[in-house]
Amino acid sequence: MRSLSAAIALIAAPVQAGLRFPCSTLTVQRLDPVVEPGHNPSAHVHHIVGGNAFNASMTGDVAERATCTTCQMAEDFSNYWTATLYFKHPTNGSYHRVPVVPVQPLLGGSNGASGGLTVYYTQFDLSKDNLKQQPIKSFQPGFRMTVGSPTTTSTPHVGLRYQCLTGTSRGAEMPDFPTKPCSGGIFTTQHFPSCWDGVNLDSPDHQSHMYNTIRSDGFTNAPACPSTHPVRVPQVTFETTWDTSKFNSLWPSGAPNPFVWSFEGSNGPGTHADYMFGWKGDALQKAMDKSECFYDGCGSIKKQAMADANRCTVKDMVGEQVEGWLPALPGMA
Ligand SMILES: *[C@@H]1O[C@H](CO)[C@@H](O)[C@H](O)[C@H]1NC(C)=O
Ligand SMILES: *[C@@H]1O[C@H](CO)[C@@H](O)[C@H](O)[C@H]1NC(C)=O
Repeated sequence: MRSLSAAIALIAAPVQAGLRFPCSTLTVQRLDPVVEPGHNPSAHVHHIVGGNAFNASMTGDVAERATCTTCQMAEDFSNYWTATLYFKHPTNGSYHRVPVVPVQPLLGGSNGASGGLTVYYTQFDLSKDNLKQQPIKSFQPGFRMTVGSPTTTSTPHVGLRYQCLTGTSRGAEMPDFPTKPCSGGIFTTQHFPSCWDGVNLDSPDHQSHMYNTIRSDGFTNAPACPSTHPVRVPQVTFETTWDTSKFNSLWPSGAPNPFVWSFEGSNGPGTHADYMFGWKGDALQKAMDKSECFYDGCGSIKKQAMADANRCTVKDMVGEQVEGWLPALPGMA
């Protein structure tokens, strides 16, 4: 709700900050070059957007190898992914993948994206960039990170949230799945940490090279980075709309939430997300250095039509069924 009211406030307020753009779905398959590099298949199914250098294993400068991207920003060959949502039939136990639909942001529409997710890179919060106080350093080639964990059994930290969409309302931000059907689908948000140790492109747990200063929900401003992680990098956020509506009639009144992540989980909300940096040259640095620009208008940043972005694909490298009614989640049998 807070991000919603922040966005409404911006219609009136001229001061703006950050990049926001759609990326269409690139592929849905069981690969994870950050957590399980070289494994084909990886443990669970992912919904992946971004550049076509996506592979079971990814090293070095991704932007050098990619030739297209599903993101609106034509020089962004990064990959962004999360687990995929499945509906687990309450009586017969079969699974069906929940389709992804473009996020309909309050400003700007989805620009013809196909599925996918919306990506934000903010410098401070949605209304100011604070660049004079704290400059932003772009991620470097080879950089990767994750946020959250599939094995979480407790409440995830702020910044990892679920919302129940009804009509034009996104509803309150919640730490776990909605407990009642949502007519407009389920909306998930993942805010990544924005303080970097300045040295490591990755770490064994893919998280300790980063530090999370987020203390409240929404696009709230970022406090100073600690001395252990002194470098402020862009704050990356994903928003995804899972179109759960077609399964609502199969959710008996009073029954528990029937939606599960592709790893099904261990009674915890388990929301997590992965990021693989892949902007070309200094394109992201230039966009982040531009003061008080907003959404897709940061400097001379190069954009492409989503119709072109939608033509970018990668091949199915796993070769298993992830669609239709399935007796078990892929990899979980
Ligand atoms: C993916 O990795 C395989 C094995 O290293 C390689 O043969 C293939 O060309 C790679 N594909 C892309 C799109 O980079
Ligand atoms: C479970 O129910 C769905 C929807 O009614 C159906 O399509 C699917 O085949 C069923 N699965 C089994 C194992 O009966």
